[in-house]
Amino acid sequence: MRILLLGGTWFLGRAVAENALARGWRVTTFNRGRSAPDLPGTEPVHGDRTSADDLKRLAGHGPWDLVVDTSASEMAPCQVLDGARVLAAEVERYVYVSTVNAYRGWPHEPLTEDSPVYAAPPDASREYGTGDGVTVHYAMQKAGCEAAVLSQCGDRATVLRPGVILGPGEYVGRLPWWLSRARRGGAILAPGEPGTHVQPVDVRDVAEFALTASPGAYNVAAPRDRDTMGDLLGVCVAVTGRRGRLAWAPNELLTAHGVREWTELPLWRTAKGTWAVDSRRAQAAGLVCRPLAQTVADTWEWLTSGGVAGGAKRGGVHGREPATGWCRGGPRGVATIG
Ligand SMILES: NC(=O)c1ccc[n+]([C@@H]2O[C@H](COP(=O)([O-])OP(=O)(O)OC[C@H]3O[C@@H](n4cnc5c(N)ncnc54)[C@H](OP(=O)(O)O)[C@@H]3O)[C@@H](O)[C@H]2O)c1
Repeated sequence: MRILLLGGTWFLGRAVAENALARGWRVTTFNRGRSAPDLPGTEPVHGDRTSADDLKRLAGHGPWDLVVDTSASEMAPCQVLDGARVLAAEVERYVYVSTVNAYRGWPHEPLTEDSPVYAAPPDASREYGTGDGVTVHYAMQKAGCEAAVLSQCGDRATVLRPGVILGPGEYVGRLPWWLSRARRGGAILAPGEPGTHVQPVDVRDVAEFALTASPGAYNVAAPRDRDTMGDLLGVCVAVTGRRGRLAWAPNELLTAHGVREWTELPLWRTAKGTWAVDSRRAQAAGLVCRPLAQTVADTWEWLTSGGVAGGAKRGGVHGREPATGWCRGGPRGVATIG
């Protein structure tokens, strides 16, 4: 097998590259050479996917059996469209990594793959959707990127819609923040109820599925009722040496103290559909989600062996700016946020 990774050096793309190399596949990576070093064993092509000349030069390195597009988190639909036009003749199958944000209903409603996605045009510019807030702008852009790939590759396209991706290399800083907080010890402010279900998916499991999924659209998340916030934070405490104890505070109390969801306390979000993503189609098609405890333990090992959340490319944006140093009212008194 010969595959092309758009990206291929950073977090998910790097995990896809490692998996493909372990299978003995030939791996071409395409990126600007800015975010991270090339992975040994890959065949790097450096260029900018927003440049028509660079895309044309890339196409000259084909053909490929499969392209996995992991470099599009900041791409406009029109840019993804340009790339898909050039590559459609050079690849058998095109896997585009989208997000659950592309659904109109996320994070407010339970979702299946039949839930409506934003109707964004495949040739939309970067400005499309800017008037609707940061989250909706990203959602519309990703929905437009999906449309761009589908317009060129049709039934040769696979669209993956992950929720939150965690694991070694996670630069956003969600799980790394909780791990470093747990390591510091003391009373750890734990948000909401310990029994609230969460569905983070391991980056290595997304990578495996990206290489094996057949065409179609798939939600890529851990099984809906498998893991809880209590499981997640409990393992963070355990793998970092059991220095702290969790002090659970109800949602209402945190909201009343102005604690910001999702960013200030990473992975805490009260909207009912946040962790109500049906991923059974992906599981039936081969997605296997390793135990959450393994994701947490391996991320801690990565961090303690020199891994840097935030990476060289951009700083982590989660859990970094606590509004207050502490919050009264956890069941056992005072618990620190940051
Ligand atoms: N992280 C999550 O929890 C999450 C959840 C849902 C979906 N997703 C989706 O998963 C995908 C992968 O995310 P990620 O965070 O691993 O990677 P990413 O930040 O979207 O992409 C980074 C990779 O793309 C390359 N790249 C960026 N701009 C480029 C350009 N103009 N031309 C060529 N290459 C370029 C980078 O290399 P250079 O900088 O060296 O060019 C790097 O290899 C994204 O589409 C994201 O939307 C992520």
